[in-house]
Amino acid sequence: MNIHNVSLTISAVRPNQYPTTGYMEFAFAGRSNVGKSSMINKLLNRKSLARVSGTPGKTITINFYNIDDTIYLVDLPGYGYAQRSKSETEKWGKMMEDYLANREPLVQTILLVDSRHKPTKDDITMANWIRHYHTNLIVVATKMDKLKKRDIEPNLQRIWETLEMGEDDILVPFSTQDDEGKYTVWDMIEMMRAG
Ligand code: GTP
Ligand code: MG
Repeated sequence: MNIHNVSLTISAVRPNQYPTTGYMEFAFAGRSNVGKSSMINKLLNRKSLARVSGTPGKTITINFYNIDDTIYLVDLPGYGYAQRSKSETEKWGKMMEDYLANREPLVQTILLVDSRHKPTKDDITMANWIRHYHTNLIVVATKMDKLKKRDIEPNLQRIWETLEMGEDDILVPFSTQDDEGKYTVWDMIEMMRAG
């Protein structure tokens, strides 16, 4: 994908702020700090378009990045953030479920999990939501550069098993430190765009 213009269209806190252009949307979900914003920056070859934070952000927003007036990459609010209050967690759940269930231009939600850790209960819940609302489960294993070589295969296997992935599902190893996963993700997006 040859990208010319990217911009943050809106950091939405309410559905009536979501874009109305109708471009296909590809969304990225996962725990706080898993690397969603970093991955979007990597995909777009931008250093800091999507805000990357050492400490997870408290604001619950859905961020829509316009790619050449053709698609949106959507940065979904992270979960598993311990400092979040009960009411904020409820707000997160409502906003996410509403987006996943009702958002017409949404083509696919991609789940990001940290390659170093076993997927959490929340990751399993999110994987099941994705399976419910889309036909395929696409998972990206982030921060692959942090794994020792001997841990690569067992850790990918652990993700596969914990999320009960099947033959129609896809697991993509990803790192901001190289380009391999980037091309795979773009190829998948291109294929889904073409239908
Ligand atoms: P929230 O917005 O809080 O939900 O987090 P996020 O999922 O957007 O994570 P973010 O992109 O902010 O990344 C969190 C931290 O992980 C940052 O310090 C990133 O630099 C780091 N990080 C993300 N991806 C990678 C990667 O592939 N390799 C390495 N080494 N660090 C990464
Ligand atoms: Mg982020």
